[in-house]
Amino acid sequence: MTQAKKPLRSHAWFGGDDKDSFIHRSWMKNQGYPSDAFDGRPVIGICNTWSELTPCNGHFRELAESVKRGVLEAGGFPVEFPAMSLGESNLRPTAMLFRNLASMDVEESIRANPIDGVVLLTGCDKTTPALLMGAASCDLPTIVLSGGPMLNGNYRGKPIGSGTDVWKFSEDLRAGRMTLNSFKQAESCMSRSTGHCMTMGTASTMASMVEALGVTLPGNAAIPAVDARRKLQAQLTGRRIVDMVHEDLKLSQILTKQAFENAIMVNGAIGGSTNAVVHLLAIAGRIGVDLTLADWDRLGREIPCLLNLMPSGQYLMEDFYYAGGLPVIIKDLLQSLHGDALTVTGQSLAKNVEEAENFNTDVIHSVNTPFKEEGGIAVLKGNLSPRGAIIKPSAATPDLMQHRGRAVVFNSIEHYKERVDDPDLDIDASCIMVLQNCGPKGYPGMAEVGNMGLPKKLLEQGVRDMVRISDARMSGTAFGTVVLHVAPEAAMGGPLALVRDGDMIELDVAGRRLHLDVSDEELARRQSEWKAPEPAMRGGYQEMYIKHVLQADQGVDLDFLVGCRGAAVPRESH
Ligand code: FES
Ligand code: MG
Repeated sequence: MTQAKKPLRSHAWFGGDDKDSFIHRSWMKNQGYPSDAFDGRPVIGICNTWSELTPCNGHFRELAESVKRGVLEAGGFPVEFPAMSLGESNLRPTAMLFRNLASMDVEESIRANPIDGVVLLTGCDKTTPALLMGAASCDLPTIVLSGGPMLNGNYRGKPIGSGTDVWKFSEDLRAGRMTLNSFKQAESCMSRSTGHCMTMGTASTMASMVEALGVTLPGNAAIPAVDARRKLQAQLTGRRIVDMVHEDLKLSQILTKQAFENAIMVNGAIGGSTNAVVHLLAIAGRIGVDLTLADWDRLGREIPCLLNLMPSGQYLMEDFYYAGGLPVIIKDLLQSLHGDALTVTGQSLAKNVEEAENFNTDVIHSVNTPFKEEGGIAVLKGNLSPRGAIIKPSAATPDLMQHRGRAVVFNSIEHYKERVDDPDLDIDASCIMVLQNCGPKGYPGMAEVGNMGLPKKLLEQGVRDMVRISDARMSGTAFGTVVLHVAPEAAMGGPLALVRDGDMIELDVAGRRLHLDVSDEELARRQSEWKAPEPAMRGGYQEMYIKHVLQADQGVDLDFLVGCRGAAVPRESH
């Protein structure tokens, strides 16, 4: 079937007999398309985040070809377009600063063009939320295809994981347990194929989140980038989007509150990245679903961690795929999930995973014999985080989950770097490291610096974890007893800005409490003396960002981008 029943959206560009339609068709024909490409068949936009500066998405030109093949087979007209590509490993000051900018690019590119349905090619961390946020604000039929993880890293015969082993190696180097030469050799051992980080970092987490949300074909998350079945997934995705256009199956029918609840529970079961919290909140905000931090805490409480993957466990994404992938986890969790949630297949989430089978119970544990009891994200409140802060218990040290300690405060990332290895720094393993001014406005962009490295002198004593608190994020590949996303942030005068060296802080994860043991009078006095830090840059996107960015408990979107604005375009271009 190439002809839809009622004229599609693209008909308003290509379907007429006037000057404007001449223009739209004629210029497209300079690429060699025949006239029947414009006969009313679904026009499928393939939004590609390929870039050589986003190494995790470096194979996307090839992947797009497989999608196109599928679109053509199903009778659609594929048109590929670029979107701002966000590479986690290169972008400064942090890729997160540009997530919302990329989402604006995607939203406006979709709405302004003659497109009936969209395939989002996502991989590296921020590319997944950015594209889905932009698409959600338009609400056309949309399907996501992840680029897939890299093959397992392998260093001297042992598996090593993206990110996770970087933190380990760099501490080994600082503590004198690894030579500089070995450290450099490990670089090419870690990233040895195309694809995104193969730990359960943010990229693998978000690939799992979109699968759990129902906006990808089943099995999307774990297929390695270089496995032939990733190309097959791409081709099938191309076929499916054409049918979705005929069925008029829109994003808003799939991205319901139930879908987000499913994703949050799946995040707990996979030991997913803390970054999923801000990304799902932001996506929900775009599609008009009321999602809050309280939902994260409520839904995470009963969910055990089933997946034995770095950084919470020992295996990597390649192992996860061979063990059966995300469908196994979804199937096992169905008692807790909304199994009837609609997905892009046109069928329910439960139906999609009916045939899933677990081929390795050491990699994928079960609800009955979980890998770790506590999988979800815990939301902490108290006078230090009135609007909330988060911690990932599965990546933390059990002994530190209830802890009272003396604060050692760093008021910026530079201050931290200057001070942390000073042999005279008054700090021991029981202290709590506090980092200020690294939140959405403060860094700006809420960088992944919350898992700050421990002082060298303590590492040398064998200390491996300490409580750390900040308004920053941390890499999904990181681990430790790290309290993140403190809101409101220090750079807007939140209580975190008022902590001083020597203050006592109480962390009680079971009680969901984060308390600064300083009197209200003293805090009020410090507040009256507080001055906002100078922004790192004036003008341009950064100034707009700092002015409009929402706090972590609201997803760190720009305030004016929240909401679905639809895909209608009232005016012609000439
Ligand atoms: Fe791209 Fe980790 S750096 S996914
Ligand atoms: Mg990251």
